[in-house]
Amino acid sequence: MQSSQRTLSEWRNRVAAEYRSAAVTAQAVHWMIQAGLPEHLVRVGLRIVADELDHATLSHDCLVALGGTDGAIPLEVSSMAAPVAPEGVLASLVDTIGSSFCLGETFAVPLFAAMRQHSTHPAARPVLDRVLQDEAAHRAFGWDTLDVLLELDGPGVRGRIEERLPVWLDAFARSYAMWSEAPPLEPAERAAGLLDGADYAAIHDRALAEDIGPRFARRGIAMPGADA
Ligand SMILES: [Fe+2]
Ligand SMILES: [Fe+2]
Repeated sequence: MQSSQRTLSEWRNRVAAEYRSAAVTAQAVHWMIQAGLPEHLVRVGLRIVADELDHATLSHDCLVALGGTDGAIPLEVSSMAAPVAPEGVLASLVDTIGSSFCLGETFAVPLFAAMRQHSTHPAARPVLDRVLQDEAAHRAFGWDTLDVLLELDGPGVRGRIEERLPVWLDAFARSYAMWSEAPPLEPAERAAGLLDGADYAAIHDRALAEDIGPRFARRGIAMPGADA
């Protein structure tokens, strides 16, 4: 059966997002090496770059198996690297660990778990199994690296993250809100690993309240709107 346009465009977006994750992580690893962060964490970062490249390839294989074309997928090169912050490499690292890992990878765990839950399509399910298996380690890498950064400069790192959290959170909320306006999924779309918009929004809100907020709070970092 031919997959819906929505299914194909979602998997095309996933290929690009996974590839972008590889690039963003590679840049973080480079900054970690420049900043002399612990070698074991740098090595975890290198493994994550390889994981994300695998995720991109597996997602592309899935796209083709679902009936998508085997052609090149446009990538936005500017989104694959951030300029070094004027305050230096450590500050750049705080930004990328805070937004892409403490938020991005931490949201990813329950989102992929939900996508996998209803996914029965033989092309999609093994990809979601692999991605979900890796995402918990990617999330842990983010929070472990944040802890190292906090040991280096607790007040500076806390202040920088608290200052930037509203903008980072707004970007995530807007990207998930986009989904909630989409019409409900067909069973075949759910089987191919898509998630209903309302589920996206609910999982996002729950992850923020029950996981991300408490993790920041334990580290003395206040969420926007929370009493300091
Ligand atoms: Fe990934
Ligand atoms: Fe990841």
